[in-house]
Amino acid sequence: MTMQTKIANVATAIPGPKSAALIERWHQFEADTTGRQVPVVWDRARGVTVDDVDGNRFIDWTSGVLVTNLGHCHPKLVEAVRESVGRLINNYECANENRIRAAEALVAALPGHLDKCFFLTTGSEATESCLRIMKRKTGCFETIGFHGGFHGRTSGAASAGGLSGTKRGYGPALPGVIRAPFPYPYRCPVQGDDGRIIDYYMSQLDETVAANSCGSLAGIMVEPYLGAAGFIFPPDGYMKELERWCREKSIVFTLDEVQSSYGRMGRMWGMEVEGVTPDLVSIGKGIGNGVPVAAVAARGDVIDCLGKGEMSSTVGGNPISSAAVIAILEAMVEDRIVENVQRVGPLMLDRLRAMQEKSRYLGDVRGKGLVIGLEIVEDKKTKAPSPDLTRQLMQRCAENGVLIGSVGIYGNVVRVAPPLCITEDEANESLDIMAKSLTSLEG
Ligand SMILES: Cc1ncc(COP(=O)(O)O)c(C=O)c1O
Repeated sequence: MTMQTKIANVATAIPGPKSAALIERWHQFEADTTGRQVPVVWDRARGVTVDDVDGNRFIDWTSGVLVTNLGHCHPKLVEAVRESVGRLINNYECANENRIRAAEALVAALPGHLDKCFFLTTGSEATESCLRIMKRKTGCFETIGFHGGFHGRTSGAASAGGLSGTKRGYGPALPGVIRAPFPYPYRCPVQGDDGRIIDYYMSQLDETVAANSCGSLAGIMVEPYLGAAGFIFPPDGYMKELERWCREKSIVFTLDEVQSSYGRMGRMWGMEVEGVTPDLVSIGKGIGNGVPVAAVAARGDVIDCLGKGEMSSTVGGNPISSAAVIAILEAMVEDRIVENVQRVGPLMLDRLRAMQEKSRYLGDVRGKGLVIGLEIVEDKKTKAPSPDLTRQLMQRCAENGVLIGSVGIYGNVVRVAPPLCITEDEANESLDIMAKSLTSLEG
């Protein structure tokens, strides 16, 4: 594949000297509690490119953990924030016009059955609110989550998820959370078509609930695909089955759309991919494209169980974040972001699948829209996960000009999640870099 204009340009070792010096200073005062990332200090970013403090330019496949869906520092967003910040920064729970317009715009962008929302600051906060609403609405106290699920790092959110990293060492998780297995097709104990896999996991859910429930089920909280567990996509039809199961039991069906929305899966909302109609939805990341904002949306008859003052936060709905929400929703449409994902996503998936054929270590390539996971294994037959090769690949990619991150229950899944404005040329150049970096692992 011949490259068009070359975008990526790395002229130093990674980390470069300035990055290395800043990283050295970093944790003298800020506690070292963040995850493991490529050692590059970001200086500025635009669209899909990130420049570090050493003058290197990278193509970004992280979107800062699936946040900057519109592209980094989108001019319309920058202008909206700039305009707002000079006028009004805080007003706590008093109304401001931006907040009112943001709620109108968000509800207009949501599927019709979700007709109410409110604003918070982080995805974890949205999770906490959803857990509380499920209980408040039903008067019951049990919520169901899934093995590998990730809903944030606050106590309730960590309890609702099924990853050990956020729980181990913190004593008992929140009582009342029941966790069931989630389909992981690449490592599924049953073989066969999608229907068989779905049946297997639905029966696992039935058994888990039968064995653990005290008979006080409030609802389910589930991601459309498992994000932090390794971009794991259930077979098509599974979400519909889960919804049917919730309806049968008259419990609340809550979808965690913190990372699956704002075009990421090739539709504005992850729920549109299978056409499910959740009662309650948590929204984060892409709603602010880096500006701190999150939201909960619901059917009015679900959210209306809340009384005055029951759910609010100091900076939720602040004028700056609200200005961002409005500008982003407009730009998503003007820039035809979802259409771009539908065009560039399959192109990237096809080329990555071709790399899988040739690579000794690329065990699985899976994705929808522009959220694609590359599972790195020691050996394609045994499927033994290799977090070590994954870390090496992250470093090689950075040295060659692409920033990637990793996720996964075993720490062996590369995240392919570029800003959704990525062009075909940018996609192809970055894919060439991935191919070269993968080949270099073979020694
Ligand atoms: C699916 C999902 N839910 C919730 C969260 C938590 O969001 P935040 O980090 O903004 O608290 C995340 C963050 O990665 C997420 O991926």
